[in-house]
Amino acid sequence: MNPASSPQTVLVAGGTGFLGAAIVRELAGHGYRVIVLSRRPRGVAARFPGLEVAARGGDVTDPSTLPAALEDVDVVVQTVQFPGFPVEDPSRGRTFRDVDARGTANIVAAGGEAGVRRIVYLSGVGADPDSDRPWFRAKAMAEAAVSGGEPAFTIVRPSWVYGPRDQSLNVFARILRLLPGVFPQLGPGDQRINPVWIGDLAAAVARTLETPAAIGARFELGGPITYTMDGIIQTLMDAMGQRKPIVHVPMGLLRVGAAVAELVPGQLFSRDALEFATGGAVAELASLRRVLPDLPLTPMPEALGRYSPGRSA
Ligand SMILES: NC(=O)c1ccc[n+]([C@@H]2O[C@H](COP(=O)([O-])OP(=O)(O)OC[C@H]3O[C@@H](n4cnc5c(N)ncnc54)[C@H](OP(=O)(O)O)[C@@H]3O)[C@@H](O)[C@H]2O)c1
Repeated sequence: MNPASSPQTVLVAGGTGFLGAAIVRELAGHGYRVIVLSRRPRGVAARFPGLEVAARGGDVTDPSTLPAALEDVDVVVQTVQFPGFPVEDPSRGRTFRDVDARGTANIVAAGGEAGVRRIVYLSGVGADPDSDRPWFRAKAMAEAAVSGGEPAFTIVRPSWVYGPRDQSLNVFARILRLLPGVFPQLGPGDQRINPVWIGDLAAAVARTLETPAAIGARFELGGPITYTMDGIIQTLMDAMGQRKPIVHVPMGLLRVGAAVAELVPGQLFSRDALEFATGGAVAELASLRRVLPDLPLTPMPEALGRYSPGRSA
């Protein structure tokens, strides 16, 4: 990694989040000047002890906040996601369309004006303008904005990302620790996923900044092993030294529960969120290998051995 030969100042939008913070640490650790874009920048730098990290205020849904945030920035890494995801709250503008699609378009437009040279967008496996799922359509809209002109772009489409600070696999680990007897799986557990270790994702993003072939490239990023969802839980149980039967909660029952949850104020779940949580995500690795042929991909059992899933990081 040699930031001296390439852009020096990288603004990570969403740098307080799961993916964003890992990317911030990776880049700052390699000598980039890193700025976190956050809606609440106070105290953000202190979250990265031992690293030179700055923070600026900005909201991707409010274009007026972006020019100052993007001053003297060479590269933007866009990892913003609305709070409460994947449960949308249109009354507060927390939707896939408002934040992922329009928010990304806003940051691309402001980046072009500010002279940003490159934007790296964290999209997702399955992005598709014709999908019947709003999250895949929003990702496709954001990709179209990112690849539409200036700045130059790199689009990374990860499958499911896991690591010490994730809000997904850690929840399953906590359920395994706390619930006696069985593990309740949402639906049949047969959706296929190749989960990617957060450290490998952060390394991939950092390498794109040093790799000419990454300019104008779009690639998928997943782990080296494809599992079913039941297989992931089994692998998690092995790592935790647990053995419990997996009980499948029928989708019909879950849909009724999700519909009821939609009626509760401060809604924590929805039918869309259920579809999101039970969808598959297999990244094809050929596109990754064309851009980053040597990126190591950590097998899930090895990565799970590096931390204690379900315990705070
Ligand atoms: N997690 C995965 O497994 C996964 C897989 C594939 C793709 N992705 C994609 O990767 C991206 C990041 O995911 P994540 O899991 O890291 O999300 P996350 O942990 O929820 O973090 C998202 C960050 O976005 C910021 N944010 C929210 N609304 C904002 C706004 N209006 N303006 C500016 N910043 C805002 C928040 O920072 P502040 O509160 O500091 O403002 C938050 O820290 C998403 O686009 C997601 O679709 C994630």
